[in-house]
Amino acid sequence: MLQAVRGTKDLLPDVINDWHYIEEIFRKVTKKFNYKELRTPIFEYTEVFSRGVGEGTDIVNKEMYTFQDKGENSLTLRPEMTASLVRAVIQNNLTAQETVARLWYFGPFFRYERPQKGRQRQFHQFGAECLSSANPESDVEILLLADNLIKELGIKDYKLLLNSLGNKSSILSYKKELTSFLKSEFENLSEDSKRRLDQNPLRVLDSKDEKDLKVTQNAPKLIDFLDEESKEHFKFVTNSLDHLNINYEINHKLVRGLDYYSHTVFEFQSNYLGSQDSFGGGGRYNELFEELGGKHTPAVGFAFGVERLLMILESQKLINKNNNNLDFYIVCFGKEYFSYVIEISTLLQKNGYSVNYDISRKSFKSQLKDSDKLKANFSVIIGENEVISNQFVVKNMISGEQMKIKLENFSKFVKF
Ligand code: HAM
Repeated sequence: MLQAVRGTKDLLPDVINDWHYIEEIFRKVTKKFNYKELRTPIFEYTEVFSRGVGEGTDIVNKEMYTFQDKGENSLTLRPEMTASLVRAVIQNNLTAQETVARLWYFGPFFRYERPQKGRQRQFHQFGAECLSSANPESDVEILLLADNLIKELGIKDYKLLLNSLGNKSSILSYKKELTSFLKSEFENLSEDSKRRLDQNPLRVLDSKDEKDLKVTQNAPKLIDFLDEESKEHFKFVTNSLDHLNINYEINHKLVRGLDYYSHTVFEFQSNYLGSQDSFGGGGRYNELFEELGGKHTPAVGFAFGVERLLMILESQKLINKNNNNLDFYIVCFGKEYFSYVIEISTLLQKNGYSVNYDISRKSFKSQLKDSDKLKANFSVIIGENEVISNQFVVKNMISGEQMKIKLENFSKFVKF
């Protein structure tokens, strides 16, 4: 039997209502903040990500679905949205029309990672990006938007981890210091970190390996390398969060796995998720536009993993599984009355109701059973007697109450 590719999942009808529910909330929250949705192609020229996300990152190094098309272009299924969005904004000159462009997105992304609970090869992200302001006010707006979304979903018991990488020169001087510290501890590092050291020393701070954790305890701290401007930027963000009563924890080791960040970085973690405990993350990226050929456009944003949000909602029992949405089931005694079935169902549908009827020529009894199985609110019964007397039985499937209604009176009846 053909199977879905490892690390991908079908979204079947029994879960799709949960997705519609969560998508509705994305729309509601982004509307409140006047963010506009954009959709970009699922694949891009590979360069968008190798330059955008960064050559030294795990995503670019080992997780991208890259292939050559028949025109011998190297293309990549998007592993994240920020680089694609920046490419689209530059190409369509979106920031020219507004001083600040506020954008959001939702869709599938692709990373070749080892599948496990909460980690797939095709997954979905919802995210938002605030473009054109270098000021910490926009960091605060983005964090407030993320906080609104979490609150609207009812998610509790989560942590917001926060850190500042400072500006580019702070990061550079920190990287230099960190590299020489890690080199002095080289023998005590894990094999993975030994490899990472030259390409991306910051990632060693992220490692969960016991050996690395021991070493990085004494590593120099990013915060000590921030210049005045960077410190001021971060202070504005933390003061605002305090004022807004948004709880956070400063974590000096939080660096994030993508190259484009500077200044504020953050991650949302939940205990409901197991080892893949991060359900969202983001930060400021002031140089990405130039990196991808655009003009200087400082920006900040975040993305949530939608599968992980749904896992939390499910374990916190925040999703209503009782999604009964069939209004009418029409039970019919014989194929000769099918035109009445269509007439009544069209009338009901015109009034906005959902309708199902039998198309398999099942017995009367099986049709009633189907009506039960589909949890219809009402059944309409059509048979010889009903057609002759022009009186159709409508049964309320919840109360059991029945009434007889003439065809011409159906319109009045359904306006309840
Ligand atoms: P990221 O941390 O790589 O950031 O991904 C954001 C979220 O996507 C993660 O916190 C996680 O919930 C979800 N996610 C990532 N990989 C997987 C996977 N393999 N399976 C399931 N869920 C996954 C970014 O992608 C940045 N573009 C965020 C950003 C926006 N920064 C600035 N603007």
